Amino acid sequence: MVLGIESSCDETGAGLVREGRLLGHAVASSMDEHARFGGVVPEIAARAHVHAAAPVVRAALADAGLAMRDIGAVAVTTGPGLSGALQVGVSAAKGLAYALGVPLYGVHHLAGHVAVDTLEHGPLPNPCVVLIVSGGHTSLLLVRDLARDPIAHLGDTLDDAAGECFDKVARVFGLPYPGGPAVDRAARAGDPRAVAFPRPLTGPRDAAYAFSFSGLKTAAARWAEQHRASGRELPVADGAAALQEAVADVLTRKAVAACAEYGVGTLVVVGGVAANSRVRALAEERCAAAGIALRVPPLSLCTDNGAMVAAVGDLLVRAGAEPAPLDVSIDPSAPL
Ligand code: KG4
Ligand code: ZN
Repeated sequence: MVLGIESSCDETGAGLVREGRLLGHAVASSMDEHARFGGVVPEIAARAHVHAAAPVVRAALADAGLAMRDIGAVAVTTGPGLSGALQVGVSAAKGLAYALGVPLYGVHHLAGHVAVDTLEHGPLPNPCVVLIVSGGHTSLLLVRDLARDPIAHLGDTLDDAAGECFDKVARVFGLPYPGGPAVDRAARAGDPRAVAFPRPLTGPRDAAYAFSFSGLKTAAARWAEQHRASGRELPVADGAAALQEAVADVLTRKAVAACAEYGVGTLVVVGGVAANSRVRALAEERCAAAGIALRVPPLSLCTDNGAMVAAVGDLLVRAGAEPAPLDVSIDPSAPL
């Protein structure tokens, strides 16, 4: 059984996986402590991990009805992420691996976001297209064998990540932190056609699988400014619905086009923004129309957690991968 530990941002997660099955997990978040700053404060996140690490591991074991002695390997996120935050999780993982005399595995955070889907839907088909959309990343990937083959990048964002766009526009709209879920909630009462926000990089001459969200963020901010300058009340619900529609449209359009171009029958959408209701609905609609199977992890496993790290650790163990040395370093800007 593999214990996975995640601490790259503001969630401390521990998860337990054995042979592709999730046995239990627990997550603690310092989200509320960052709210009044409008974004994650690295030092606060790192300190919160120090307090949460041991209790979260115990909570995951309790969730699974298992004990420390049942842990056969420890996997931990080594990057990318906030350096102080990563350091806490990696130190905890090293301590546990050393004390238990079990192997340690370093895990790439984004591989975790991809692998978590296997806990719900079984092994990933080879190949599949993965759309990874989080607060720090927006990428389209061609994935073959997660544990063995390198992942092919089809395209990335040139500027902001999709989640960052949600978070920053939410702030301008006066919505609470974290912005993504707040935009999703506000959008329920809005009309997505009320504002014609741009669909960046979707022209015939644009790179097919590159993304850009900073222009969309600016367009939404200017729309809000113009409303406020004219003394009218900001129709936040309409703005949120239109923003969400623009993001979901661009993401799903490109992801489905990638499946068609590469002749791939399965699209996997993962990361925090995969929790967005419109992204999920539009992906479903467009995949169904194109005859593509869609896989999206359950909501609770889309945002950061320890199960995703344990899922990669479990794949590595079963692929016979070499464990990491006990002095393995963090890699805050790890490339995929
Ligand atoms: O994967 P994640 O938990 O952390 C990173 O690795 O970045 O993703 C967090 C991001 C944040 O930007 C958050 O606002 C966004 O995911 N998010 C959402 C929703 N839930 C989380 N964005 C839109 N709609 C949601 N329902
Ligand atoms: Zn993440």
